[in-house]
Amino acid sequence: MTKTLTKPLTKTVCIKTYGCQMNVYDSARMADVLAPLGYRPVEEPAEADMVLLNTCHIREKASEKVFSELGRLRQLRQAREERGLGRMVIGVAGCVAQAEGAEMLTRAPWVDLVLGPQAYHRLPEMVARLAREGGAQLDTDFPAEPKFDHLPAPGPRGPSAFLSIQEGCDRFCTFCVVPYTRGAEYSRPAAAILDEARALVDQGTIELTLLGQNVNAYHGAGPAGASWSLARLIRALADIPGLTRIRYTTSHPRDLTDDLIAAHAEVPALMPFLHLPVQSGSDRVLRAMNRGHTADAYVTLVDRLRAARPDLALSSDFIVGFPGETDAEFEDTLSLVGSVGFIQAYSFKYSPRPGTPAAAMPRQVPEAVKAQRLARLQEVLNTQQILFNRRCVGLEIDVLLDRAGRRPGQLLGRSPWMQPVHVAAPAATLGRARRVLIVDGQPNSLAGRLVSPEIPPDQVANAGPGTARALA
Ligand code: 5AD
Ligand code: SF4
Repeated sequence: MTKTLTKPLTKTVCIKTYGCQMNVYDSARMADVLAPLGYRPVEEPAEADMVLLNTCHIREKASEKVFSELGRLRQLRQAREERGLGRMVIGVAGCVAQAEGAEMLTRAPWVDLVLGPQAYHRLPEMVARLAREGGAQLDTDFPAEPKFDHLPAPGPRGPSAFLSIQEGCDRFCTFCVVPYTRGAEYSRPAAAILDEARALVDQGTIELTLLGQNVNAYHGAGPAGASWSLARLIRALADIPGLTRIRYTTSHPRDLTDDLIAAHAEVPALMPFLHLPVQSGSDRVLRAMNRGHTADAYVTLVDRLRAARPDLALSSDFIVGFPGETDAEFEDTLSLVGSVGFIQAYSFKYSPRPGTPAAAMPRQVPEAVKAQRLARLQEVLNTQQILFNRRCVGLEIDVLLDRAGRRPGQLLGRSPWMQPVHVAAPAATLGRARRVLIVDGQPNSLAGRLVSPEIPPDQVANAGPGTARALA
């Protein structure tokens, strides 16, 4: 992390984030990088001297959204100029910028900055060059030197923060653009991660979510040179005083090692919730996706995780209508869902992405069939989620109260299993983990009341015993 001199915050930047949690992290880091240039973050593009779209390329819909938003920004810029407010800088960051590169400037020639996910530490240079020379600035290189070495210390992020520890992916699932947009797997050195974690905890963070496209493939250099696994890193993070909750996402089943399963059994701060995408329940489809595991292997892994941590709950990603997927193969996905039981999930219609092997596969599935399968799958997944939320009623769990609620006197928090929980609580408990009795379970959230508001946050580690029954 580099030290920087800070100017007064006289300019405004609006960073709009699309896509995954890593983009949320990257957007916060872009704000950190721009702060020394005098940029203060704002919510509304109309108020901003600079608007950055941090984009997602994972599915066609996400990607196309960027171009309609750029059209709106062009009009906004014109309206601002007519009001004499000066020229708005428009930038595109993230995975669409990486994938489209110079093409971006052909489709939207009014864009000033195009920068890939590995280039945002060079934003200050790009902004300076733009001011000096004018003309669009493009940077989609994968630098030999990792960007993390050039980022300033993070600003305050609140009680729950993201921390990127790994980026890129070497798995090459045949449907996925990530290995092309984010590049080869890279793991940050453990010491840099521990420093960043301590800096966040010093500023009030008590929960960290470790991020990576394939986070459990983490193998960063340890302080003594030899590489550390994710499990080793989690154990070291759990030793930081004040850091009471640790999560990690997104994991690949093939990289979920024995030592990580052991960490789930032995590290109380490691939350009992795991996003472990399976994508499909059909072995033939899983092979065509190049996932490297069978449906049975996934179920066995889940059994082992639950044996290690009985209150562990799972979420997953699913793709329906992968090329060649038959009705019977889709039924295999439904039966896997039935036998595993997910408390939450994301499911998508397969979207062919340019340059990926699956886009060129024969027997693409018609949209109407994809839509029918998605609706059926989502019905089953929603039912599982609702049942789980209802079974939580009557449990006492620890809730991290991390934002204001909808109504006065109410705070919103997260359960150990990531459910949003509405709690009537004094404002002074904002940013704390508190024991809460769950009194209502709705499809997408829980409601609860404080049990013992006097418990200090550092003595409240996790869901605690007895919660496994909600999962039974
Ligand atoms: N089409 C549909 N869904 C996709 N995902 C990734 N690529 C595609 C695609 N081409 C989904 C996967 C992945 C999640 C982040 O997005 O389920 O786990
Ligand atoms: Fe994409 Fe995840 Fe597969 Fe990597 S493991 S190619 S990020 S779906």
